[in-house]
Amino acid sequence: TDFEAPPTDLITLTRHILKQQQELGERASGDLTMLLVGIQVTSKYIASNVRKARLINLVGLAGAENVQGEDQKKLDVLSNDIMVNALRASGKVSVMVSEEIDEAIIVKGSKGTYCVVFDPLDGSSNIDAGVNVGTIFGVYKVEEGKQGTVENVLRPGKEMVAAGYTMYGSSCNLVLTTGQGVDGFTLDEALGEFILTHPDIRIPDRGKIYSFNEGNSLHFYPPTLKYLESIKYPANGKPYSARYIGSMVADVHRTLLYGGIFGYPDDKKSKDGKLRMLYEAFPMAFLTEQAGGLATTGTQRILDVIPTNIHGRCPVFLGSKNDVEDVMKFYAEYD
Ligand code: AHG
Ligand code: MN
Ligand code: MN
Ligand code: MN
Repeated sequence: TDFEAPPTDLITLTRHILKQQQELGERASGDLTMLLVGIQVTSKYIASNVRKARLINLVGLAGAENVQGEDQKKLDVLSNDIMVNALRASGKVSVMVSEEIDEAIIVKGSKGTYCVVFDPLDGSSNIDAGVNVGTIFGVYKVEEGKQGTVENVLRPGKEMVAAGYTMYGSSCNLVLTTGQGVDGFTLDEALGEFILTHPDIRIPDRGKIYSFNEGNSLHFYPPTLKYLESIKYPANGKPYSARYIGSMVADVHRTLLYGGIFGYPDDKKSKDGKLRMLYEAFPMAFLTEQAGGLATTGTQRILDVIPTNIHGRCPVFLGSKNDVEDVMKFYAEYD
């Protein structure tokens, strides 16, 4: 076989962020760059712990519940602590919200001009089986005169200045938007660097995959059920394939790359669905829109929803434009 020389002009995540921020010129202070570089270090450290969890007794429960009544895994707590410590130390953050912490964390005395909301470990019910998990984050800029208050994060997702996730899977991938499209990076473990491998991710306008927890069908409302029926028993005789991992990060990652639709609807049991607005729905909706897709609650653009509670939830349908429009049609009919 032919020898192929390795690439000699690697675009690392740091190089990519620096370039993007330089393009913004005067408006960029470099603080967002520092912050995102800080987040990438937490991802590498969480990745390394996830990878060796079975070997160092990091699997299983931590013994406590979080504010949403979920049993915390040891890795939920560890990942949370890694994120909180790194963001606090960055000096760039004045407010944090984590899935694992009841109240917003106000960083005392911080002059930081950013707020970070995050799900330190997404899909944690999957970790003990070695299935993909991830970290999701969103970044707001502090509003004038509102330094260090929770109001800074009770804002619609469309006001986020950056969002992304890291997926700890067969490879470790970090996917990021700062509102200039979506780029994906793969961790080169030998270098310890995220390398640009998926520049300018664009979701196909229509996909062939649907991703819902259909085990909840008993509770689903008619628009969801009718939509699912339409893709399972289509007039053209070509039904969609089902793929549901149960880790939002992995299900969304596949949806961004292959197209199709991911959904976690509201239903008779969960009146706002399951996924949390600030650190699950908003960042993923921001990424999806930036990749040319759509993200809706069924009746409203997700990024327009105004949160009233830091752990508030909303229904989520996101993915390929045409597929999400189909769901919205069913919702409009039942309105
Ligand atoms: P987390 O592990 O951060 O609590 O999030 C779990 C979420 C999300 O990853 C996934 O899409 C969804 O829960 C799966 O829920 P079901 O098990 O109800 O399908
Ligand atoms: Mn959880
Ligand atoms: Mn999650
Ligand atoms: Mn989580």
